[in-house]
Amino acid sequence: AWTMASFIARSIEDIRSRVGDDEVILGLSGGVDSSVAAALLHRAIGKQLTCIFVDNGLLRKNEATSVQKLFGENFQMNLRTVDAAERFLSQLVDIEEPEQKRKIIGRVFVDVFADAARDMRRARFLAQGTTYPDVIESASINGNPSAMIKSHHNVGGLPPDLKFLLLEPLAQLFKDEVREVGRQLGLPQSVVDRQPFPGPGLGVRHLGPVTKKTLDILREADAVMVEEIKAAGLYYHKLWQAFAIFIPMRTVGVMGDLRTYEYIIALRAVESTDGMTADWADLPHDLLQRISSRIINEVRGVNRVVYDVTSKPPGTIEWE
Ligand code: XMP
Repeated sequence: AWTMASFIARSIEDIRSRVGDDEVILGLSGGVDSSVAAALLHRAIGKQLTCIFVDNGLLRKNEATSVQKLFGENFQMNLRTVDAAERFLSQLVDIEEPEQKRKIIGRVFVDVFADAARDMRRARFLAQGTTYPDVIESASINGNPSAMIKSHHNVGGLPPDLKFLLLEPLAQLFKDEVREVGRQLGLPQSVVDRQPFPGPGLGVRHLGPVTKKTLDILREADAVMVEEIKAAGLYYHKLWQAFAIFIPMRTVGVMGDLRTYEYIIALRAVESTDGMTADWADLPHDLLQRISSRIINEVRGVNRVVYDVTSKPPGTIEWE
């Protein structure tokens, strides 16, 4: 904790002397890294920082609101929320293949972010929450294509007319250190200890082509899953990830005297230390029971819930 306090003090000095009177933009996703980078920069340069949050229509329930509340209202940061849901979803119509989805989402993100950045011509710096493992990983991906089984995307590759100086204040820190810096800067546990969430968001947790309507079903089911996992005290320290997946096929069920024909939700919960390998979590049966009945009772359009008992390998954590 002491070393992190001195890290923060030193970083603030560094950032101030590098940035001077200039302005900085940062793509805020709400994940641990960009959130901690935002908090650190804000501590250093206050209103000279503008965060850009892109709502791609593939976010979880209440995600945009909680970013707005925490960073906009609580921290009083300059925060620009770009509602780009329509732009993303219109590019994803009929797209089924996972890598194609990932590429499109990555490309539209760069386009949307670039447009937002162009509106901020005065900014000289682009800040990113790059951490030490990211630096190492991108070096190994560049040297070894097989290191990357799925195309991961984070910011990068802006068009050539946009030239920024890069600011990466977390580039020497490991994840645990990033979390500690976040805690010391006053970020809540719901941010610093949050589970990983893929850049392409719900887009890769919804099999087949995404639609607004079926994404809403997934969002509601996922919110129930996460709420119950949190209530059971398993979210923060026991599970690496816990989430729902949408399966775009319907099965027959019965509710009261009526036959139903509705979609399937799969539940995934894994234990892992680094995401490279993972074990499916042996969740208590009464918890699974509660999640299943809540989803079926509360989420219109779902009449069957299944649990994924595949470890990694051979499965991956995400389904796409
Ligand atoms: P898989 O599904 O490959 O996922 O077992 C391993 C870990 O990586 C996360 N993940 C991503 N993270 N951008 C990210 O920043 C991405 O595109 C992405 N895809 C997967 C996944 O949630 C798991 O923790």
